[in-house]
Amino acid sequence: MSHKLIVGNWKMNGGLSANQTLLDEIKAGLGAVRCRAGVCVPHPYLAQVQLLLAGTPIALGAQDVSIHASGAYTGEVSASMLRDFGVRYCIVGHSERRQYHRETEVEVALKVKQALACGITPIVCVGETLVQRDAGETEAVVKRQLAAVIHENGHCISEIVVAYEPVWAIGTGRTATPEQAQAVHAVLRAQLKAATPHHERVAILYGGSMNAANAAELLAQPDVDGGLIGGAALKAADFLTILRAASR
Ligand code: PGA
Repeated sequence: MSHKLIVGNWKMNGGLSANQTLLDEIKAGLGAVRCRAGVCVPHPYLAQVQLLLAGTPIALGAQDVSIHASGAYTGEVSASMLRDFGVRYCIVGHSERRQYHRETEVEVALKVKQALACGITPIVCVGETLVQRDAGETEAVVKRQLAAVIHENGHCISEIVVAYEPVWAIGTGRTATPEQAQAVHAVLRAQLKAATPHHERVAILYGGSMNAANAAELLAQPDVDGGLIGGAALKAADFLTILRAASR
């Protein structure tokens, strides 16, 4: 069994019938897949996808969680609600949420805490913008983003998954080179090593235009433990190719 982890991030895509078709096609092709896998779906489809994934090795995931446990927070969804639907993974701090919803580093850390308290593995996204990369700030930015999460979550930090997602590579078709990804993953690995003796438990995924053509090369890097897949997770054949690349 490969220890690599491939997680699809459907973002705000899908529908009852499209979800069924996509998952039927993926399930039909799972034969040679030996890696760990999950799909993070929009909240309204958790119940549907929970049923569709029953009995398969693909875990159910969500894309966001509230910083609160319950109460007067209209429109929010708590970690315990996600847990009710068998959610195993929850993306936290995706750059689209940091950017379009003004999510702060403190909020990201609190969301991680809520997920962990309910036994859900948070997939913590970190990554620099193109301006930050060009200014030579990549390392400082991702370290600061991860540090906020480590600070708030102490010894539980070994229970998270980290996703390095350079903002300039998300949905742009412009992927980080394997060397660029590896360099940042090594920085994050060292930071986790300093934070917990159980750092080897933490998978560090790469995300940002990972696709059927480039997955194998990225996944071959020593510190790339898997992928967080957006666009390519919506096409069964492409997602299966990535799952197979991670199964070697
Ligand atoms: P992408 O998205 O694969 O479409 O670039 C990745 C992500 O945002 O998680």
